Amino acid sequence: MIDNSWTDDAWKALVKKVEKTSLVIGDRFPSMTDENGKYTYTEDLWRWVTGFWPGLLWLIYEDTKHEPFAKIALSCENQMDQALNEYVNLHHDVGFMWQLTSIKRYTMTGDPEARRRALIAASHLASRFNIAGNFLSAWNKNGLNDSDPRGLSIIDSMMNLPLLHWASEETGDPRFRHVAVAHTETVIENFIRDDFSVNHMVEFDPFTGEKIKVQSGQGQSTTSAWSRGTSWAVHGMALAYKYTQEPRYLEVGKKVSDFFISELPEDNVPHWDFRVPRDDDTPRDTSAGACAASGMILLSSFLEGEESDKYLGAATAIIKSTYENYGNWDNDSDGIIHGGTFNRPADIGIDVSLIYGDYYYVEALSKLRALNASNQLRVAGALS
Ligand code: GLY
Repeated sequence: MIDNSWTDDAWKALVKKVEKTSLVIGDRFPSMTDENGKYTYTEDLWRWVTGFWPGLLWLIYEDTKHEPFAKIALSCENQMDQALNEYVNLHHDVGFMWQLTSIKRYTMTGDPEARRRALIAASHLASRFNIAGNFLSAWNKNGLNDSDPRGLSIIDSMMNLPLLHWASEETGDPRFRHVAVAHTETVIENFIRDDFSVNHMVEFDPFTGEKIKVQSGQGQSTTSAWSRGTSWAVHGMALAYKYTQEPRYLEVGKKVSDFFISELPEDNVPHWDFRVPRDDDTPRDTSAGACAASGMILLSSFLEGEESDKYLGAATAIIKSTYENYGNWDNDSDGIIHGGTFNRPADIGIDVSLIYGDYYYVEALSKLRALNASNQLRVAGALS
């Protein structure tokens, strides 16, 4: 009999942590922690991170029904209207932002205001589609290098596509889905490499749609394998399959996951890039592990037998190690887990808590806990 009671212990630890930190964080928008373990906040409400804190609170609220969490999450969503109304700074990450807030709340409450917000966000995302190159442009200004932002697309985009799939399901109008599928095909052709590692950024000519070149972003180089970028692909492909049932997306999701798993070190928490020399000082990225784990749990739900167990086992091993080795259970840090890397090439945010790392850790653990409660967590959490 496999003892998976650690999932309940881990859940209790994080609920206790968030009961405390929510009193400090309130309805602000945390991004990453500073050298004292205190979250720093963004006041630019259009930034990609804003949905994670309210999203995390909704995940815990679903279990605890602790009303202050709902109040904070709703206040954050209301404040995000500023970005939606201003429009000019919105970018492709409107998916991350409104999926975890408005769509989550709409699913729970049916509030038409939440639906309206998410549909506006989906319309914005669809409008970023470049029909000449079949890609969604990432940004309006280029944050990471000197390429033309009008032609730049990044692997992170895969996590934003559920907003489009949701909009098609919600309205009955397939045009949003067409955009999501066309972009997914472009990603498979241009971002997924032959060995199933992934490119972070690809630049296209915005007028002809032709691919210009692969650009380096948060990974070490154009040929390295940024672990969080890989996790966006793992999770994003599982989501693409969920909404389309297209077997190729499942296949790519499996192969990218296999690559991710094959690169995990002994404690199952990934280094920030899979193709840098590794020693004891090489930074990890717990956010990559958590996001990939949550995606692999989804992937495993589409599979059967040993194949399903393989991905569920890997996800369990990642989250169990993160709980045991990277949790802030007994200290004053604002973050739930440490060991996150934001941007190693720019030397910003190394061994910190990242709000998206916290979010995906909570998301993955809530999925494992649900499987455990229904006796479906069939694996011990050890990678063979
Ligand atoms: N989406 C930006 C990042 O992964 O850091």
